[in-house]
Amino acid sequence: MSDIIAAIDVGTCKICALIAEVVDDEREEPLNLIGVGHAPARGLHKGMVVNVAEASEAIAQAVEEAEVAAGLPMPRAYVGISGEHISTISNRGVVAVSRSSQGITRQDVERALEAARTTAPVPHGREIIHTLARRFTLDEQTGIRDPIGMQGHRLEVEAQIVFGSSSAIANLVKCVRAYDVEVEELVLEPLASGEAVLTPAERELGVVVVDIGGGTTDMAIFLEDSLWHTVVREVGGNLFTRDVAIGLRTPFEVAEELKIRYGHVLPERFPAEEKIHAPAFGDGGSITVSRRTLAYILAARAEETLELILTEIKRSGYDGMLPAGMVLCGGTAQLPGLKTLSQKMLQWPVRIGSPNSLPGLGRDIANPAFATGIGLLLWGWRQRKQTGKKRRSPGHGPLMDRVIEWLRNLLPG
Ligand SMILES: Nc1ncnc2c1ncn2[C@@H]1O[C@H](COP(=O)(O)OP(=O)(O)OP(=O)(O)O)[C@@H](O)[C@H]1O
Ligand SMILES: [Mg+2]
Repeated sequence: MSDIIAAIDVGTCKICALIAEVVDDEREEPLNLIGVGHAPARGLHKGMVVNVAEASEAIAQAVEEAEVAAGLPMPRAYVGISGEHISTISNRGVVAVSRSSQGITRQDVERALEAARTTAPVPHGREIIHTLARRFTLDEQTGIRDPIGMQGHRLEVEAQIVFGSSSAIANLVKCVRAYDVEVEELVLEPLASGEAVLTPAERELGVVVVDIGGGTTDMAIFLEDSLWHTVVREVGGNLFTRDVAIGLRTPFEVAEELKIRYGHVLPERFPAEEKIHAPAFGDGGSITVSRRTLAYILAARAEETLELILTEIKRSGYDGMLPAGMVLCGGTAQLPGLKTLSQKMLQWPVRIGSPNSLPGLGRDIANPAFATGIGLLLWGWRQRKQTGKKRRSPGHGPLMDRVIEWLRNLLPG
């Protein structure tokens, strides 16, 4: 029986459930994707649950699809969390270390992180999602990345603490549990996206990963291989579509299709005479617009979004420390021309980040929109590796029976 990892990316536009088996911890591609399920998101707004019943149903639909594809139940999953309620601070934790020949142990590191967690000033109505180590100080020696095995008496950790709104967290957990899936860990979505699309060299040098989804733009700054800052803003692809709908006077669904089929953010690439046709509001009418006009509308929103991203990065104080530049992911990163426009505006290296394809069903999801989902699996895999915990695929329990029942229903006759 193999070790199984499952993940649910609860996005504003789509829910994506994934089941993978750990193939071999030493291989470059450690996961084999065995089940994928998608559902259009319902009951979510700007990355947060606004209708528990609708969101639960959409999550159940995606999970069920993944379970049927994998032929395995999903008793627990790593679940992504996002929204403007996310905030972060750094805090220190100090512990005394008992003299021993084996030096600092993982338990000592855990105790130091626990000290950082318990002394963090948690604002009212918030709770801690992550406590992530940035650097350690052992006695007088500062700037240590990994103190395990070193000798010393006083271990101090500088940790990054990520908070979220308690009610937003409770609502998300409730939706996932509604389908009998336990939340193995909540994972900040840009942290997960970073797992999927950044190279070790980028994380080491200094880079910002920006996941522009449908309802949120999630940013995470990585330096020296750890998270230094994160911020979520409520802007995303839905605003691009809304601008097109207003600008061209078409329904939202038509604007979405125009954006995806003909969208671009470099209007100068299109001659004024290149026209596109689309249904207008009302019955039967249609409109004709130049593709350049569509690109002007999208470019204006892209520039505004990039300005907001730049403002947030400057506000973090790390703007001068990102030689690896920016890696864009999320569905909106597929908008043609966005990389060129970003490079021109920010004067940084920019690339579009897609998760590496995984063996199994993974080829179809090598797309920037799946950065969070794949990243959640990789996050889970990394956690398991560090803690040595394994989750075996369960045998016949009530969940397995549920899956077998569905499989039976799918069979003809
Ligand atoms: N080819 C494309 N060109 C432009 N935009 C696209 C394309 N494909 C998808 N999008 C846009 O990407 C957005 C959805 O992205 P994504 O799937 O990453 O969002 P999400 O994870 O559901 O939402 P969020 O992370 O914001 O909560 C939509 O606004 C959609 O219009
Ligand atoms: Mg997303």
